[in-house]
Amino acid sequence: MFYELVVCMVILMIWSLWRSEKSDVDNLPGPPRWPIVGSLPIFLGLNESEIFTILTGFSKEYGHRVRLKIFNSNVIHLYDPKDIEIVLTNSKNITKSKGYLFLKPWLGTGLLISTGTKWHKRRKILTPAFHFDILKNFARVFEEESRALVGDLRARLQRGERTLDVMAFISDYTLYAICETAMGIRLNSEISAAKSEYKKAILGIGQAIYRRLTRFWLYYDIVFYLTPTGRQFKKHLEQICFFTNTVIEEKRKKKNETESSATGKRRMALLDLLLDAESKGEIDMEGIRDEVNTFMFEGHDTTALALTFGLMLLADHEDVQEKMFEECKITFGDSTRTANTSDLAEMKYLDAVIKEVLRLYPSVPLIGREITEELVLDDLVIPRDYEVIIHIYELQRRGDLFPDPEVFRPERFLNGDKTNFSYLPFSAGPRNCIGQRFAMQEMKCMLSEIVRNFKLSPIEKGYRPSIKADLVLRPNEPVLVKFSSR
Ligand code: HEM
Ligand SMILES: *[C@@H]1O[C@H](CO)[C@@H](O)[C@H](O)[C@H]1NC(C)=O
Ligand SMILES: *[C@@H]1O[C@H](CO)[C@@H](O)[C@H](O)[C@H]1NC(C)=O
Ligand SMILES: *[C@@H]1O[C@H](CO)[C@@H](O)[C@H](O)[C@H]1NC(C)=O
Ligand SMILES: *[C@@H]1O[C@H](CO)[C@@H](O)[C@H](O)[C@H]1NC(C)=O
Ligand SMILES: *[C@@H]1O[C@H](CO)[C@@H](O)[C@H](O)[C@H]1NC(C)=O
Repeated sequence: MFYELVVCMVILMIWSLWRSEKSDVDNLPGPPRWPIVGSLPIFLGLNESEIFTILTGFSKEYGHRVRLKIFNSNVIHLYDPKDIEIVLTNSKNITKSKGYLFLKPWLGTGLLISTGTKWHKRRKILTPAFHFDILKNFARVFEEESRALVGDLRARLQRGERTLDVMAFISDYTLYAICETAMGIRLNSEISAAKSEYKKAILGIGQAIYRRLTRFWLYYDIVFYLTPTGRQFKKHLEQICFFTNTVIEEKRKKKNETESSATGKRRMALLDLLLDAESKGEIDMEGIRDEVNTFMFEGHDTTALALTFGLMLLADHEDVQEKMFEECKITFGDSTRTANTSDLAEMKYLDAVIKEVLRLYPSVPLIGREITEELVLDDLVIPRDYEVIIHIYELQRRGDLFPDPEVFRPERFLNGDKTNFSYLPFSAGPRNCIGQRFAMQEMKCMLSEIVRNFKLSPIEKGYRPSIKADLVLRPNEPVLVKFSSR
């Protein structure tokens, strides 16, 4: 009864806010619209994977510019490289769309969702942490993690565990890697205990945020925190912050120790830069926590998902595995050493494999911007206060841009490096992914080490999991892959 009441109140409130407007964009095609509620009814009662299916079906039904209106929020969905280029290369209209607001209690003013001068300042502080020279120092960590991962896999094989839930397994290693590189701390056993809680909480919070996005009555904080989803959200957030606080404190301790022992070595980890900025008064503790939360999440979940889908596709394509293996033989000969940066730069096929994985399964399937000032796309004027959603997932599966779009074929990316606005797994423009090279390096290192040591096979040939709508591209069920020693 309570919910119905709230829902009625909200509808009445929106009714009073609602006013009809007529403009160019009104004539764009899109799902059916009813008075007041707009297209809301087509989403009602659907679960996360059904919502993902509907969202990704828009372009097939309505073309490359699709209008969606729900109550008084107007969203234009874009699927065309030309339009997307205009939106992403604009250096002023960089505000993320309203949906990102629900991330605020978690990621706060972190780089992903901040805007304006705050974003500029933060990006300037943090960019040096991803400089080419720093990445070279990280190579050692990626090598170590890749070796540990292979050792772990071998131990599992010996115990008779051949079939693995890849995501659960691999995300441990991407989490270790981000902690040791960006945060500059090794996960000791005390922090490790909090690790699995952290991973669970990340899953839970993503779900809670998505539920909120798709259930308009949860948009108001006052309602949201009274519902079971809101209480879950709060609980997960506490767990996440417990973990990140532990990481920050650990780092403070370590920093203090090395400073006391007066080593003049330049420390460059991201968290060092943040703590230095704190001592200069450029950022406060809350800001640091927001950034650590942002990088911990963006830095481990995205790469783990890409590796998961990658291993799934490789298991299904033995020929691709063999070509990767051949390339490894050329690079390493008989040596068993792990790939270093110059090896990875040489391995062009490996590079193409990962690019093709990210084409089919971009870890961040869609991104959004708020139009803060009228935006002109060729013939179309998008008024301010509209939002645009860029469908990376659908764009990269357009048959006219990528022939046989559903087919996994790394060769597409073998002739040169010329990717353009048809291919955007890391977005582009001023708000592109700051961790792009970091991610590529890490994934190449781990994937090549796995393929050198194991043969992968699928549980069921041609199997593809359904995807659920989440903050990232998440499979609806565990992705299982069979491993055997080479
Ligand atoms: C396969 C791996 C990855 C993919 C596909 C990916 C993709 C993306 C995309 C599409 C964006 C734009 C988001 C938006 O416009 O809302 C983004 C932003 C960002 N990514 Fe990544 N990312 C990956 C790995 C990483 C890693 C490893 C890190 C950190 C070490 C990272 C840190 C960030 C941050 C901080 C931003 C926000 C940048 C800003 O707005 O200035 N990402 N990423
Ligand atoms: C969503 O509903 C469909 C049936 O319409 C079902 O096949 C699928 O398993 C459901 N997914 C989840 C996550 O509940
Ligand atoms: C840093 O180390 C000094 C001396 O070793 C100690 O007095 C101080 O409390 C430490 N500070 C922190 C934040 O741990
Ligand atoms: C990588 O290893 C090879 C073989 O040991 C070596 O020739 C090369 O200099 C190394 N590159 C880097 C960047 O360490
Ligand atoms: C946003 O984009 C439009 C169209 O490109 C441009 O005219 C406007 O100046 C931009 N907004 C801001 C705040 O610069
Ligand atoms: C961008 O890349 C796609 C796919 O490789 C290609 O079809 C398209 O012609 C390219 N566009 C431009 C402007 O180069």
